[in-house]
Amino acid sequence: MAKKEPKTTPVVTIDGPGGAGKGTISQLLAKELGFHLLDSGALYRVLALSVDNHGIGLDDEEALGILAEHMDVQFGASDPESPVEIVLEGEVVTQAIRQEYVGQLASKVATIPLVRSALLTRQRCFREPPGLIADGRDMGTVVFTDATLKVFLTASPEERAQRRYQQLKNSGNDVSLPRLEAAIRARDEQDTNRIIAPLKPADDALILDSTDLSIDQVFQQILHATKQRL
Ligand code: DC
Repeated sequence: MAKKEPKTTPVVTIDGPGGAGKGTISQLLAKELGFHLLDSGALYRVLALSVDNHGIGLDDEEALGILAEHMDVQFGASDPESPVEIVLEGEVVTQAIRQEYVGQLASKVATIPLVRSALLTRQRCFREPPGLIADGRDMGTVVFTDATLKVFLTASPEERAQRRYQQLKNSGNDVSLPRLEAAIRARDEQDTNRIIAPLKPADDALILDSTDLSIDQVFQQILHATKQRL
């Protein structure tokens, strides 16, 4: 009798630009399906914070690669009601990594090949039964090319800036909407035009523009598409 191939752990990848709603949708999907969650952007942000804390220059690619491979970071259990607690070198950095300057620095650090290859291995370790929701820029194109479902979630830059603005304001941050929109456009530019693992939809991705959709509409569409493939 032919031996049955072992089934691989399912992965749903959700890629797209910042502020498209990937984080919220990924958290809802992980809760609904009982899957693990990988917020790969958080990994790049934690690294950026660590680079800043240690005063490492962006031109010291070797040191950045070593830090990416060895940095001491822990992600708490996924709790759908609140953000996953992130601890860097013993310090809770869950809020600190959300600051805009950390996002900008993360986007720069993310262009370095040694950093990306070190984080690749760390990201793949999140693939554990019963399944994984992976949120990022290159989840479907590089990290999990064999994903069960690949989604590319986008929205207009104006709408994304508005969403980020509300998010930051609600958590007590003083922000300017025009400055946020300019920052979002600059980061889009950097993430889309880098040579290695640029932000783009996988050839087989389901492309969803969430500009005029509610969170629930996006969630239901992706959930439906996922269930069809499990
Ligand atoms: O999704 P985010 O805003 O938290 O991500 C911060 C930066 O990290 C983003 O501008 C680019 C980088 N990043 C990446 O290069 N690849 C990923 N898979 C996730 C994030």
